[in-house]
Amino acid sequence: MSRLLERSVPDDYLLRMASDWIRRHLPLGAWKNDMLVAVVRLEDLGEKEGWCGGLRVAPELRMQGLGRALMEYLMTVARLRGISVLRDLIEEDNTPSRMLAKAIGFRELLMASHLAGTITPARGAAPAVPVTILPEIGIDEMSWVRALGGHMSPTGPERFRFVRATRERLSKEMEGGTLFSTPQGTGLFLFSKPVKVGWSERTLRSFAPLNGPLVEIIDAAASLMEGDGSRVDGFLPVDLAALGVAEKRGWIPGEMWGRRVLLCERRLF
Ligand SMILES: CC(C)(COP(=O)(O)OP(=O)(O)OC[C@H]1O[C@@H](n2cnc3c(N)ncnc32)[C@H](O)[C@@H]1OP(=O)(O)O)[C@@H](O)C(=O)NCCC(=O)NCCS
Repeated sequence: MSRLLERSVPDDYLLRMASDWIRRHLPLGAWKNDMLVAVVRLEDLGEKEGWCGGLRVAPELRMQGLGRALMEYLMTVARLRGISVLRDLIEEDNTPSRMLAKAIGFRELLMASHLAGTITPARGAAPAVPVTILPEIGIDEMSWVRALGGHMSPTGPERFRFVRATRERLSKEMEGGTLFSTPQGTGLFLFSKPVKVGWSERTLRSFAPLNGPLVEIIDAAASLMEGDGSRVDGFLPVDLAALGVAEKRGWIPGEMWGRRVLLCERRLF
C-alpha cells in the first residue's frame, strides 16, 4: 500500500497512518497484475453511520472509472453492513475528488476549516462572554460532532489527526475534562486536564456547531485559557469571512486539511 500512496499524493499523510488504518478500519482495494492500484477505507461509526476516506487511485489509471467503481463497491459493502449514511471530507480545491463524489450521488453539505491557535488573554481579565459549565451533558448534544465523523486531535506540536467520534470516545473524553458552552449554546468545548502536547501544557478542544458566531466561540475559549498560552485546537466549521476573524485572533488553519474542506454526504437507504 505504501507504494501506491507514495505515487498518489506528494507527502501523503496516510503514509504515517497506513498500518493503523488496516488494523482498525475496513480497507478496500483494487488490483491489477497483483499490484494494488486503488484503495479506500470504510469506517463503521456505529448507529448506521459510515465514514469513508483515503481514496487513492494510481496516477496512470485515473479518469478510467476506477475511483467510481471502488466507491460503488464501498457503498455496496456499507449497505450490507446496515450503514444508511456515508460521509466524507474533501478539500475544496480537489476537483477530481469533488467530481467523483458528485457523480456517485454525494451532496456537499457544508464548508469547514480546521483551526488551531494560541490565545493568551490577559491574566484575570473578565471573560469576554459568559460560559456555562456543563457537568452533565447528554451524548446526543454532541450529535453534530458525530455528524462530522470526528474531530481533530493533536499528535505533536504541528500535526493533527482526525479522530472518529464514536459514542465511547466522546464519553471517555468528557470524563477527562470539562464541557462548557457559550450562552446560546453556540459553542461546546472540552477543556482537557493538563497534558504535555508539544510546546503546550494544555489543550482545549472546541467543537463548534455549524454557522455558530465564531467570534463568540473564540472569545469564550480564550476566556478560559487564563493567559497560560495553551493551545486551542478544534474543528471549527467556518465560512470565508469568519476565517479572517479567526486568523486575526491568532488562529491558524490546520495543516492537514488545507484551508477549506467540504463535508459530503450520501444517503444509502
Ligand atoms: C480523486 C480520484 C480518486 C478519482 O479517481 P478516478 O479513478 O480518476 O475517477 P473516475 O475515473 O472513476 O471518475 C469519476 C468521475 O469523476 C470525474 N473526474 C475524475 N477526475 C476528474 C478530473 N480530473 N477532472 C474532472 N472530472 C474528473 C470523472 O469524469 C467521472 O465522472 P463521470 O463518471 O460522470 O464520467 C483520483 O484522482 C486520485 O486518486 N486523486 C489523488 C488522491 C485524492 O485526491 N483522493 C481523494 C481524497 S478526498
